[in-house]
Amino acid sequence: LRVLVLAGGLSYERDVSLKSGRRVLDALRSVGVEAELRDADATLLPALRDDPPDAVVIALHGATGEDGSLRGVLDLCDVPYVGCDARASRLAWDKPSAKAVLREDGIPTPDWVALPHDRFSELGAVAVLDRIVERLGLPLMIKPAQGGSGLGAAVVREPAALPAAMVGCFGYDSTALVERYVPGMDVAVSVVDLGDGPRALPAVEIVPRNGVYDYAARYTAGLTTWHAPARLSADAAARVAETALAAHTALGLRDLSRVDLIVDEDDHPHVLEVNVSPGMTETSLLPLAVAAAGLDFGELLRTMVSRAAL
Ligand code: DAL
Ligand code: MG
Repeated sequence: LRVLVLAGGLSYERDVSLKSGRRVLDALRSVGVEAELRDADATLLPALRDDPPDAVVIALHGATGEDGSLRGVLDLCDVPYVGCDARASRLAWDKPSAKAVLREDGIPTPDWVALPHDRFSELGAVAVLDRIVERLGLPLMIKPAQGGSGLGAAVVREPAALPAAMVGCFGYDSTALVERYVPGMDVAVSVVDLGDGPRALPAVEIVPRNGVYDYAARYTAGLTTWHAPARLSADAAARVAETALAAHTALGLRDLSRVDLIVDEDDHPHVLEVNVSPGMTETSLLPLAVAAAGLDFGELLRTMVSRAAL
């Protein structure tokens, strides 16, 4: 079995992706899989044509890796890969679209408004922001509609902080997702399918030291504490797992995903987003969940690539 791990690319999450790629490569090699790491650059297409691997693991985050485009290229070259298809990837990657599907399916997700930059400038920032605060209240969560790793995201607790947060967000995407902020416990549920259907691994509770799970808190050792499994009652843990599985299924995902949720003060889960190419770095949540489930990361990947290559 020859496996190609794709990492790097040109997204804002290039550095994260290179770390994920290296970790995946090491894990696959540790269980004897012949694996190679490669950047997703212009040489990829001829390489796939001339020397196609048996399967690809996509360790690319952000655009290309998660927006469906790379998956479309792999489909074109008839090279199998671990993870969902291009269409599902594109859907999950666009947060407003994904949230609309979740809500349609009755899966709780915080109220939101998708705000394109053009509309923001056309109507005037003050008028738009007033309307949003009136509709969603405060605090608000601002995120690029398409993005990851907390880049361009901010919690806004007072109206005066909103314009700067919007500008920060528009630096990453031309559409902002403005979401009602739900206070509670931040958890991430990794969903994996080893051939017997999707199952939820133990929820990982995220406790950033300075209260915000931003880029630094995600990737700097010591800035975040995790509890795996999360400190939830058995009932709440079951509800969280069930909700995560429902979100994975509603979006048409396959093999693996990571569902990020908030568990509110009444122990009810709300889905924030679903990641089709979850981080695999030393401080990422999916590998932590795999360990908490008593599984070996390399064996898990080997099972997934073997299934993909069938
Ligand atoms: N976007 C990062 C890689 C994550 O979801 O883990
Ligand atoms: Mg994300």
